[in-house]
Amino acid sequence: MELSDRVALVTGAAGGLGAATARHLATLGMRIALFDRNADGATALAGELGVAAVAVGGDVTDDDDVATAVEAAQSLGPLWVVANIAGGGVKSQRTVGRDGTPHDRHAFEHTMAINALGTFNVSRFAAAAMAANEPDDDGQRGVIINTSSLAGLEGQAGQLAYAAAKAAVAGMTLPMARDLAAIGVRVCAIAPGTIGTPLFLRAPKELQDRLAADVVFPKRMGRPEEFAYLVESIARNSYLNGEVIRLDGALRFPPK
Ligand SMILES: NC(=O)c1ccc[n+]([C@@H]2O[C@H](COP(=O)([O-])OP(=O)(O)OC[C@H]3O[C@@H](n4cnc5c(N)ncnc54)[C@H](O)[C@@H]3O)[C@@H](O)[C@H]2O)c1
Repeated sequence: MELSDRVALVTGAAGGLGAATARHLATLGMRIALFDRNADGATALAGELGVAAVAVGGDVTDDDDVATAVEAAQSLGPLWVVANIAGGGVKSQRTVGRDGTPHDRHAFEHTMAINALGTFNVSRFAAAAMAANEPDDDGQRGVIINTSSLAGLEGQAGQLAYAAAKAAVAGMTLPMARDLAAIGVRVCAIAPGTIGTPLFLRAPKELQDRLAADVVFPKRMGRPEEFAYLVESIARNSYLNGEVIRLDGALRFPPK
């Protein structure tokens, strides 16, 4: 798929992986719509990209905000690429805590909402917009790239809500690809291991070393730009569809 001069909508664009992705797609000559509930962060980055860019502050779980973000993207041209990166986890919590307290219900619902509902919500509005695109030679009208996590494939003790939410993101990828085949839109997901975003790099050195210890090779955290390269590869490669791709240096999460 040709990327230069096409439009990408990046959610979570003010965060570590979202910003790296927006920056990388801009170097490929894409026009970028940056969507994040951190409006100031998205606006600041839009001003740095050196390509046509627009920032939208809002929540991926809110229909009006998502519709506004998709419209803003379309103000730059037909929307071809969506990178659903907004999301995140909550404080570690077990199904029943060591003191016998049941897992907080709100924490579970919130984590499901920002990761699973948000990804679904942006995808449905974006795909409806892509359906109007002029197809390329393959009959393609766009690509959606979701962000799962190794936690969604092999969640650890204490990660129940985040693991369930990221498993939902992985699980919706194939049926979404099957649904959207009718309009020529591909869907894949990336399941990152531990990527050294600025947040991780501010953590104490012992924690960073612990996070890198189980990685098979290269023996370090991933780099945000390595995530962005995979977004580019999925977008470019028209034969990648319906797949959840691990990006983890062969890391397999231990039980805890
Ligand atoms: N960094 C990692 O190692 C890693 C590993 C696996 C998966 N992930 C996933 O990758 C994605 C990005 O992670 P990151 O490390 O860059 O985190 P981050 O916290 O730096 O960025 C997440 C961004 O999403 C935005 N966001 C969160 N909820 C939102 C909502 N409801 N509406 C709009 N924006 C919202 C935040 O404002 C933030 O800018 C997340 O989905 C995360 O779960 C990260």
